[in-house]
Amino acid sequence: MSEELKITKICCIGAGYVGGPTCSVMAYKCPNIRMTVVDKSAERIEAWNSDKLPIYEPGLFEIVKERRNKNLFFSTDIPTAIREAELIFISVNTPTKNFGNGRGRAADLKYVEDAARMIAETAQSSKIVVEKSTVPVRAAESIMHILRANQKADVRYDILSNPEFLAEGTAVADLINPDRVLIGGEQTDDGLRAIETLSWVYERWIPKERILSTNTWSSELSKLAANAFLAQRISSINSLSAVCEATGADVSEVAKAVGLDSRIGSKFLQASVGFGGSCFQKDILNLVYICEGLNLPEVAAYWQQVIDMNEYQKTRFSQKIIECLFNTVSDKRIAIFGFAFKKNTGDTRETPAITVCKILLEEGAKLEIYDPKVEAEQIFSDLTSASVTENPEFVRQAVKVQSDPYTAVERAHAIVVCTEWDEFQSLDYNKIYGSMMKPAYIFDGRKILDHDALQKIGFHVQTIGKKLNRAGLLRSWGQIPQFN
Ligand code: UDX
Ligand code: ADP
Repeated sequence: MSEELKITKICCIGAGYVGGPTCSVMAYKCPNIRMTVVDKSAERIEAWNSDKLPIYEPGLFEIVKERRNKNLFFSTDIPTAIREAELIFISVNTPTKNFGNGRGRAADLKYVEDAARMIAETAQSSKIVVEKSTVPVRAAESIMHILRANQKADVRYDILSNPEFLAEGTAVADLINPDRVLIGGEQTDDGLRAIETLSWVYERWIPKERILSTNTWSSELSKLAANAFLAQRISSINSLSAVCEATGADVSEVAKAVGLDSRIGSKFLQASVGFGGSCFQKDILNLVYICEGLNLPEVAAYWQQVIDMNEYQKTRFSQKIIECLFNTVSDKRIAIFGFAFKKNTGDTRETPAITVCKILLEEGAKLEIYDPKVEAEQIFSDLTSASVTENPEFVRQAVKVQSDPYTAVERAHAIVVCTEWDEFQSLDYNKIYGSMMKPAYIFDGRKILDHDALQKIGFHVQTIGKKLNRAGLLRSWGQIPQFN
């Protein structure tokens, strides 16, 4: 490997869900490269330097502990880290705009722009600047404009797009063994050299065949496309879950039969209460917005439908809960099992639990929420901003966050499973049944529980994409609950 390609210092701007784990694994796999992760939030950096990291990811703490203060540093001193680095990752947040043009759809590139300006002001030597945050197509061009318009003599910038495909909850495994690494850059001699340099970093632990290089726009669009395809599969199976409930087909059986076709594949066909997370909705909205801007309304409408189906699924599930509970949940105690957008993460961004809780709260329910990883204050904050009243007092009166599932279910009329945490499968449902109001209902929004066993205990069970055996219910309660 040629010496001139060697990178010794990397800076990453943004110590969030992407920047933190990515650089920790990079430091772990490249002990000779000094990684400095910087953030403007002193609180976040303090947490990265403590025993309680700001995000929960299986295996992450062990890696951080092993490399921290050796070749992995977390700091608020952004200028020094920029000055020293040969390569800079930008992994700041790119939320959906909540104001002005493109409100509710376009990505807000304010933080990316701030980071680019900071680099332009501070850098005293040439840098490779790598856009890692998920951004709209042609965002690299904007970064380039800012950097090159402020370029000092003897300082040159190469801009690369290197989208991150890690999924939360499996971030460490995804980073150690990714399906592919994508690097987009300008197809000029300088651009290709920059691609080769970043590729060299990844080649420390990833086989070269898995490192793909493209032009910048293909790389940016591929990230949006990958998320749109994944979300589309979930919306497709969720749309069929409604057909299953109405006809007696079982969506898991359909998913298995369909997924065994090797052209289709079995992954991402798990019907659920709906997809959440910081990426799917944001990226599709962004894609829709771009298509509209390109005067491609049919393409925009096609992808918009993936989001609309997800909204429909979340609302449909919530309405089913209300209908089954005799069309009123007013003052009923409902235990919510899981608030994170998926298992093995404490992240609640766009979690379907917010929609379900919001609808139940609007109908006057009292919620007892249990999630093994989400902090109580996060839940209150999410529900306050989602609530129609935005009144923190209303939410605090109607919601209790419990640290134990058995406390959450005491005197509850129903349990609603919103996240597929493994521990929900091994709870003592006999004990739970004993402490609940009767008839006791379980609404399994993730299709993870043993429904037959629950029915035998006496529960009324409803789930996604399957009409449950009413004979069992008849035996237990002498009535058939309304399903549709
Ligand atoms: C996603 C992409 O997978 C990842 O490549 C990208 O970098 C970021 O966005 P993430 O949002 O962390 O990752 O989680 P993911 O595992 O994709 O799940 C997203 C949502 O879809 C979750 O709410 C999950 O519960 C839901 N889901 C997933 C389903 O409802 N059914 C499935 O079959 C799979
Ligand atoms: P992601 O999921 O994309 O990683 P996060 O919101 O988890 O997004 O993390 C983004 C991080 O970037 C936040 O911790 C935020 O404080 C940080 N950040 C945003 N803008 C800047 C900036 N200009 N300089 C330094 N850090 C920034």
